[in-house]
Amino acid sequence: MAEISLAISVQNVSFFYSRRTRLLNRRRGEWILQNVSLDLREGECIGIVGESGSGKSTLAHVIGRQYRAQSGEIFYGGKQNFSRKEFCRYVQNIWQFPGDALDPLWSIGKTLREPLKIHFPDLSRLAVEEKIKELLHGVSLDDSLLQRRPSALSGGQKQRVALARALAVGPCVLICDEVTSALDMPVQWEILNLLNILRAKQRLAILFISHDIAAVAQVADRVIVMQKGKIIESGPTAEICRHPHHRYTETLINEVLAMRI
Ligand SMILES: Nc1ncnc2c1ncn2[C@@H]1O[C@H](COP(=O)(O)OP(=O)(O)O)[C@@H](O)[C@H]1O
Ligand SMILES: [Mg+2]
Repeated sequence: MAEISLAISVQNVSFFYSRRTRLLNRRRGEWILQNVSLDLREGECIGIVGESGSGKSTLAHVIGRQYRAQSGEIFYGGKQNFSRKEFCRYVQNIWQFPGDALDPLWSIGKTLREPLKIHFPDLSRLAVEEKIKELLHGVSLDDSLLQRRPSALSGGQKQRVALARALAVGPCVLICDEVTSALDMPVQWEILNLLNILRAKQRLAILFISHDIAAVAQVADRVIVMQKGKIIESGPTAEICRHPHHRYTETLINEVLAMRI
């Protein structure tokens, strides 16, 4: 039984991408996640690090229900049964390239208005417009961007809009997959700072996934290290960064240090 105070409880999840072989039309698969378990508490930020191909994005998709795991269970606030709409309000994702997730033809105003109209149909027009401004200010953007389309925004501004849109539905959990990886260093720090502020204000539970352990160290309370679809170590961020048990974790830290010197 999962505890109610947990925002997310992932229990022994395993996943493979199956494909049919031409020969004999058999199903073939490769295990991408193997017995992954983690507990994310309300208001907590867990960082997931690992080299490229270690299964981090697959885990993000499985937790976000874009993919279905072949085995294991995931509890969301102790629950498993949600309508699509309820689930959308519980878990939101943001990704590496916000440009891909934003409709290029929609103004920023419309991008933020749509989820509000769908999830809060009783809000008056005025209340929706107020809420849109509040969301924009919450991610440190100003009203002058409302009429613009995504193509007229910088990468950092687009990521802020993606974040504001995710927050529009008032989620309990935010899954961030490499959200700073495509941004310049100063903009990365701004986004990480913003995540810290939002977490403290809204008691958001955040799963912060990145290959960059330095970015993870800025936001995460605890770190989980993944290699080849398995969790190989986990613990409080400071402890993992200062005294990694695994040579693989040490390599991840050294790679980041080498890049920043
Ligand atoms: N759609 C797919 N079909 C088959 N294999 C995939 C697919 N997407 C990812 N993979 C494989 O799954 C593994 C994990 O990928 P991914 O979860 O994207 O890792 P990460 O985010 O840590 O870089 C990789 O070996 C990758 O090649
Ligand atoms: Mg990835």
